[in-house]
Amino acid sequence: MLLNNVEYALMNNPLRAAIQRRFEARRLLRMGGRIPGGAALELGCGRGVGIELILDVFGASGVDAFDLDPRMVAVAARRVRDRGDRVRLWVGDATAIAAPDATYDAVFDFGIIHHIPDWRAALAEVIRVLKPGGRFFAEEMLASFIQHPLTRRFLDHPQTDRFDAAMFLGALGEAGLTTLCSQNLGKSVIWCVATKPVAV
Ligand SMILES: C[S@@+](CC[C@H](N)C(=O)[O-])C[C@H]1O[C@@H](n2cnc3c(N)ncnc32)[C@H](O)[C@@H]1O
Repeated sequence: MLLNNVEYALMNNPLRAAIQRRFEARRLLRMGGRIPGGAALELGCGRGVGIELILDVFGASGVDAFDLDPRMVAVAARRVRDRGDRVRLWVGDATAIAAPDATYDAVFDFGIIHHIPDWRAALAEVIRVLKPGGRFFAEEMLASFIQHPLTRRFLDHPQTDRFDAAMFLGALGEAGLTTLCSQNLGKSVIWCVATKPVAV
């Protein structure tokens, strides 16, 4: 689901970039470690700050990234134009990822799966494209945040079948991922790192 104008503005500003750099990426790094030389995918890359972090902080050798919104992909392309062939960008949908099975050492989700009506389909795609032993780094907004009257007043999200932390972790398990660690900010946000078992 595309962002409304309010959330588009919230996502495309220096404060959002600072929060992603200083808090979100550092937390996921502490939880799940670096991926030196690894091949990474970012779901819903927005304006491309996550791509820079995956390369520069997590140590990936290359990042494939896509977003449902062509405007976001255009902004991200401008941001990472000096990264050459280390970055591949396209317009795409996390419920049908345009990549072969077992392609990536890591998949990153900076707050996009809660925008997807059939979010379990996205998790099924995440495990499909991960290599055995690969890691899924996720930050997600939970039902309490999405269904809060203030959030509903200003932002557009799917409202049915939203997840709390237990549901999200349960769905990771049902998809075949093993959660390595997770942390919550109250009932609003979850950060977690999960892995695709080597035997799958
Ligand atoms: C809250 S923004 C987060 C953007 C970026 N990851 C960040 O942290 O700034 C959610 C993004 O997910 C994208 N999106 C929504 N549904 C999607 C889908 N099914 N597949 C891929 N991207 C999607 C939106 O266009 C938007 O750019």
